[in-house]
Amino acid sequence: MNKLEYTISAWPINGLPATLAERTRRVYDRLAPVYSISTNLFHSRAHRRALEICDLADGMRVLEVATGSGEMFRRLVRTNPSGSTLGVDLSPKMARRTQHRVQSEFPACMTQCHAVDARHMPFRDAAFDSVFCCYMLELLSGEDIARTIGEFRRVLRRRGQLVLVLIGQKTPAFNALYRVAGKVAPAFWGRQVEERVPELVEASDFHIERDAQVRQTFYPSRVLVARKNGD
Ligand SMILES: C[S@@+](CC[C@H](N)C(=O)[O-])C[C@H]1O[C@@H](n2cnc3c(N)ncnc32)[C@H](O)[C@@H]1O
Repeated sequence: MNKLEYTISAWPINGLPATLAERTRRVYDRLAPVYSISTNLFHSRAHRRALEICDLADGMRVLEVATGSGEMFRRLVRTNPSGSTLGVDLSPKMARRTQHRVQSEFPACMTQCHAVDARHMPFRDAAFDSVFCCYMLELLSGEDIARTIGEFRRVLRRRGQLVLVLIGQKTPAFNALYRVAGKVAPAFWGRQVEERVPELVEASDFHIERDAQVRQTFYPSRVLVARKNGD
């Protein structure tokens, strides 16, 4: 076991089973018709902040991993109208909703959304200039987080940017509530990983360039913009 694997194996799991992707897929499939309510209430401010502090320019090849019902995805397409914007989500119903919505809103844009597991993505190496992923790493085991960050690195071009949004961990009362929610419905809530992910990102050959905290109502988020190091 190398140092990184050892660090991950020591992460607190708060009752999260090692593999629960199948349950996560079912839960998010069921919630697809109403999930946008939660995104608009708790995630939209962090989405906007991520777009403000990253280096997204029109004409880029952009991937969003875990689109959910597509609120951030539509922002990305709007900012990148003459580039290509691809989305993936584990839940086929989330991916289908996002695909329908984006195709009717932006018929002239190059954009697609498919049901894909972030842990093994069907894209060639260095296919993207930017990868975005908001509020998904919480739902993966430590090992899967490391594997998925490895996938982000693989599909990004040299010096490409990775933009992550994580649930913040700086508010003890919120953390206590989250621990309870995560025990009750682990496949939906997962557990907080914000304090540990930066170390893992840097150990995976990225350099964190920007780091911002956002609060929407009582819900804290952390936005990280990391650059893939040159080979
Ligand atoms: C908390 S929601 C976040 C949705 C959206 N990114 C947002 O900011 O509102 C988590 C999303 O991650 C997706 N997801 C969970 N595990 C995944 C995986 N292994 N691969 C791809 N998507 C995954 C779920 O289906 C769900 O849509």
